[in-house]
Amino acid sequence: MKVAVVGLGYVGTVTAACLASRGHDVWGVDVDAAKVEEIRGGRSPVAEPGLDTLVAQTVADGTLHATVACADALDQADLSLVCVGTPSAPRGGTDLTYVRRAVDDIVAAMRVARPPASRQHSVVIRSTVPPGTVEDMVAPALADGLAGTEIAIGAAMCPEFLREGSGIADFFASPLIVVGTSDPCAAEAVTEVFGFLDQPVRVVDVRIAEALKYACNAFHATKVSFANEVSRLFRLMGVDSREVMSLFCEDDVLNISASYLRPGFAFGGSCLPKDLRSLLHQARMHGADLPMLAGTLATNELVVNEAVDRVVASDGRTVALLGLSFKSDTDDLRESPNVELAERLIGKGFDVRIYDPVVNPARLIGANRRHVESKLPHLGRLLTHEPAEALRGADVAVVSTAERPVLDALLTIPPPHVIDISGRLGREVESLPGYEGLGW
Ligand SMILES: NC(=O)c1ccc[n+]([C@@H]2O[C@H](COP(=O)([O-])OP(=O)(O)OC[C@H]3O[C@@H](n4cnc5c(N)ncnc54)[C@H](O)[C@@H]3O)[C@@H](O)[C@H]2O)c1
Repeated sequence: MKVAVVGLGYVGTVTAACLASRGHDVWGVDVDAAKVEEIRGGRSPVAEPGLDTLVAQTVADGTLHATVACADALDQADLSLVCVGTPSAPRGGTDLTYVRRAVDDIVAAMRVARPPASRQHSVVIRSTVPPGTVEDMVAPALADGLAGTEIAIGAAMCPEFLREGSGIADFFASPLIVVGTSDPCAAEAVTEVFGFLDQPVRVVDVRIAEALKYACNAFHATKVSFANEVSRLFRLMGVDSREVMSLFCEDDVLNISASYLRPGFAFGGSCLPKDLRSLLHQARMHGADLPMLAGTLATNELVVNEAVDRVVASDGRTVALLGLSFKSDTDDLRESPNVELAERLIGKGFDVRIYDPVVNPARLIGANRRHVESKLPHLGRLLTHEPAEALRGADVAVVSTAERPVLDALLTIPPPHVIDISGRLGREVESLPGYEGLGW
């Protein structure tokens, strides 16, 4: 395929040289003539292990070219990969000026370039851009710029996951290849250009692809800060944090895994809030600030607030709370955010009925019983034996359990509003007219 790579920085040069090394006819474009000259001379314009060699080899093979003239790169090109910078704007926003200019340059070039044999040219954004950029800016700019021509063009987002310093290795072993587009030709073009990689290409909604990159970077930043915060405290306590974290990383069931990463309701239960509070207390005693870990308690509170706000916004008065314990298959009510939710709704005057497949107030003992009695003294009166009993006449159901009897009852007696705080009620319930997910 003929591929134009627009922007020859870290991402663009690695992408261009790697694609060229796999036989694509790659044309790199940059507004910076010095970078173009470097590539033409067989050198990488950016320092990256192995990149000088790859550029030299691909330029010598005639598969990698560089130009300042976008029209030369776009001539008969099947797709362009936009790899220009998206720096921070003064208040932290994303400066999309370079993306917009690159798209305008592509439009101008398309007007004079010959179309590819495949007939359609696809503009694929590799730069990191906020959700909505392709649909709200790139696609309209392409459509407006090419209005009145016969030129077929599609737009897509294909986030780049490489890291500087290991760019080439990361490119060839990308953790994910995701293309966000509603255009089948663009999806096909991306699938074909990355066809040599041992990875399936996931075709998703364009905003998912745009958001994914931010989620990844935010998570990576959070991991670094997490390790640094716990180590800040442990160091002060004379604990070797490197050994702690090394063992921590050996747990690929709960720690380095998909566990706890599904959007849904607040965390709770007998351990997480208690132990987090204790850790923060130990930090205060040792004079250590752990703002990120302290923030998790604040963000947890926001999740409960949001659930309350959603119920209030539903305009109903009768609420069926399906699921009370902090997670399914336990009757542990200690610090269950569902108990907190019930308490807040009752306090606001809602008529709350509760169904939980496991919780039986007659069998609650010890700390569990004391916790419930302090929060929901009339639990016995609020609890129903069947989900249908809770749902009958309810204006809104708040659902945290995906037990089959609960799903069946929701489908049989669907209330006007179903607020899913479990994130796993499944398609049938999700397609009910009053369904809304909390946080997704
Ligand atoms: N650097 C990374 O490790 C990395 C990894 C993944 C994603 N990203 C994202 O990829 C994008 C590019 O990052 P980078 O670090 O390669 O940027 P960079 O600043 O190194 O390179 C951008 C290049 O684009 C060129 N350019 C600007 N406008 C142009 C135009 N109209 N036509 C042609 N060239 C133009 C610039 O001259 C520059 O050479 C950013 O959105 C970044 O967030 C970066």
